[in-house]
Order: sequence, then structure tokens, then C-alpha cells
Amino acid sequence: MTAPRLRVAVLASGRGSNLQALIVARDAGVLPVDFVVVGSDKPNAGALQLAKDACIPTFTLNPKDFANRRDFDFELFRRLDASGAQVLVLAGFMRIIDGEALAPWVGRMINVHPSLLPKYRGLHTHRRALEAGDAEHGASVHYVTAELDGGPVIAQARIAIQPGDDEGQLAQRLLTFEHQLLPAVLKLIAEQRLDLIAPNRVALDGKLLDTPLQLRHGALVD
Ligand code: GAR
Repeated sequence: MTAPRLRVAVLASGRGSNLQALIVARDAGVLPVDFVVVGSDKPNAGALQLAKDACIPTFTLNPKDFANRRDFDFELFRRLDASGAQVLVLAGFMRIIDGEALAPWVGRMINVHPSLLPKYRGLHTHRRALEAGDAEHGASVHYVTAELDGGPVIAQARIAIQPGDDEGQLAQRLLTFEHQLLPAVLKLIAEQRLDLIAPNRVALDGKLLDTPLQLRHGALVD
């Protein structure tokens, strides 16, 4: 008998190219997961249409319909609980989440962030890397904790900043690596090879990582 596939929920606020990369990996047979729901805070998010096209159930919650962030977040997680998801992926979900609301999901919730964390938490990461004159830039996938973009980093992709790069070019070039990084990390989770060791360490195959895994030629290496 084959093992049941991991049930995954995805939250996204925008165009959804990372969601699309996950769906492509699943369809290619390299990512053994089922997507049980895609949620968004933006009714027009491209991610919702991509999910519908892939026959994944969707929902939208409008923050304006809630008295405060905390009420929104508790309703969000009520929906995610109801979906039966075991793991939650933030794929361009552009909201800060209440620490108490997310607490039950710590250890089974990951986020893709366009910087080499701990550098450049928050917004405008590409611009900040360029302004700092950095030689390299990158993306990180990390476990989500109450600290914004502060949870333990699982894996990173690094790219060189080229002379003449502007913010858009850099973002676009990095995105293609995000599309490899996120499915690769989710695959490790689906294979039950990754753990968050409280409070802030990552273990691969039961061994603590001293540094994040690195994406090289499409594969994650220690
Ligand atoms: C991605 O670059 C992702 O790393 C970033 O938003 C973009 C979403 O693109 N996430 C964050 O900045 C989270 N702090 P997508 O909608 O095409 O996947």
C-alpha cells in the first residue's frame, strides 16, 4: 500500500508563480503532496485563478471584513484547520500573522522570502541588496514563527548580482531559483526528512543543520 500523500495548504497574495511551481512539481511526479486549499487575502490574486485552473479549492478572506488583524488571523487558521491540511506554505503571502494564531502551526508552516535571511527581512529586499552594494543576493525558505521572517532558515538559493542589475531584473532572475527552492524544501517535508527543533534549529534526517541547505544545480545540498 502506498503511503498517504501530505496534505498541503497554500496562502498567497499575488500572482502565484511560486504556487504554480509547486503545482508543476506535483504534476511532474516529483512532489508527493496533495494541495487541499489555496487561500488569499486578495480576491484578485492570480494565485487563486491558478489554483482554480488546477482544480484546487480556494477561499478569500478580506481583511476589511474583520475588526482587527487578530480576528482575521484566527478565522484564517480556522479555515486552514477545516481544510485538513497538515502543512502550510506561504507563497507570497504578504501579511504579518498574529503569533498566537499561528502558534499551533509552528513546525509545519514554511515561507519563501526573497533575501538571504537574516539579511533584509520585510519588504523591498531586492532594492535593499542593490543599495547595499551586495555581491550576491538570494532567497530563503524558513519555518514560520511569531518573529517576522525570523524563523529558522531551512534552505537558500544564492545568485550573483550583475553589474547593471536593476530591481526588476534581480527579482525576476531570483524568482526562477525560488521556483526550484520551494518545491525542493516541501519535498523534504513530504518525505518526513525535516524537523524544526525548538526553539530555532532545523534537522535533516535527524541531524541538526549548522547552516541552511544550499540549492546547487536544482538540488539541495548540505
Ligand atoms: C516571491 O518573490 C516571494 O519570495 C515573495 O513574494 C513573491 C511572490 O511571488 N514573498 C515575500 O516577499 C514574503 N515576505 P509569486 O506570487 O509570483 O509567487
